[in-house]
Amino acid sequence: MNEMPTLASICTPNLTQRAKLSTAPVSADPYRSPAYFELERENLFKRAWLTVGRVEQLPEPGSFVTQTIEIWNAPIVITRDRNDKIQAFYNVCAHRGNQVVLAERGTASRFSCGYHSWTYRNDGTLLGIPDAGNFFDVDKEKCGLKPIATEVWEGWIFINHQETPEVSLETFLGDFGKAFAGMVWGNSTKSVFFEARLKANWKVIADAFAETYHIPTIHPATIGTTFANKINPFSRPISGEFWGPHRQVSTFGNPEYAPAENAMVEKLAYANIDTGNVLGASGTAEMQKFLEHSAVNPTRSKHWAVDVTWVFPNFHIDLSPGGFWSHRFWPVSVNETRWEAEFHIPDATDARGRLQQELYVARLAEILLEDVTNTERTQRGIESGAFDTMQLQDGEVMIRHSLHHVDKWVKAATVAEALAAD
Ligand code: FES
Ligand SMILES: [Fe+2]
Repeated sequence: MNEMPTLASICTPNLTQRAKLSTAPVSADPYRSPAYFELERENLFKRAWLTVGRVEQLPEPGSFVTQTIEIWNAPIVITRDRNDKIQAFYNVCAHRGNQVVLAERGTASRFSCGYHSWTYRNDGTLLGIPDAGNFFDVDKEKCGLKPIATEVWEGWIFINHQETPEVSLETFLGDFGKAFAGMVWGNSTKSVFFEARLKANWKVIADAFAETYHIPTIHPATIGTTFANKINPFSRPISGEFWGPHRQVSTFGNPEYAPAENAMVEKLAYANIDTGNVLGASGTAEMQKFLEHSAVNPTRSKHWAVDVTWVFPNFHIDLSPGGFWSHRFWPVSVNETRWEAEFHIPDATDARGRLQQELYVARLAEILLEDVTNTERTQRGIESGAFDTMQLQDGEVMIRHSLHHVDKWVKAATVAEALAAD
């Protein structure tokens, strides 16, 4: 007979101390102070590399996507030109500032401004000015779409507000980038996308997806029995990794999980799939490669469910046996956030696969709603002034690590100083 494992044999204790973080209560001010938010804007979001998507979203020369980066107060357009170069630009016409590209996405080799028809190539160069003869010495070379520093790492597109970024993306990602090198991002061509604006600080929303202590309280019916069991009733994480400002915790999955007797749809969808503790699954060769990567379930735990990976400052990638999903938390104001979640799914090859996807998406929507239910209430509580500090337990270590590094960037004179070891 197998011996029952103990909590101590499954979950690494003292993740906070291992990450060399203080165990004291943390200040509530970074979540509510307008002055702190302005420092985050200038010293963090205008100096850090920020990810805006994946290369698959620009599948062919001519593909483009537009977005607004609220914290920069800037509309942007990202293009793949005829030389396959991926480049972000300010989506701002050099004539009098109109937004040039209005579509959310599409394919175009050139863009024409909707105000006076100045025309640009998708590599940003200015092609044509109607009635050019009536202007005064316009230097067309200097009137292209203004480029934004853009780099691609493992298929993820990053941009930087600094004209000449103080550090390269490689330096910014540091050991995190090395740990994830060569990752096969399975099923990355198709996705289900969720977006919402929430009246809460961006860190309140990011924190909501950064710990599993809340699982028994807010997800009892959806994932309460997949992410917790009798041995680990409060869903303590199994391990944690910290690379400079970036971080990951591996969360606990109940290996004994099985759909309830009366959950007929779930039983049918998950029959023959040997991954009971996951939110979605697929058995393709691509997914096998993904799962074999040393950064996925790094301790090779039998009790593994999901690696919650937080790329500093506002990007989560969640790695699970069924694939990966991601979140971006875009600050709008000190107490408003635009939240994007994207779940990658494979093409369904048969009816069971289709049923499984439908169930997956329906469940996800339910779980995500549960996750954000408390965030606006939490923000109001933080702003009330009823307390000045928050108590964080060991399972909430990623929140503490985030606050520590945000504060370092906010206070640092240079990016090198912000990235320096403590
Ligand atoms: S503002 Fe774009 S053409 Fe005039
Ligand atoms: Fe949750």
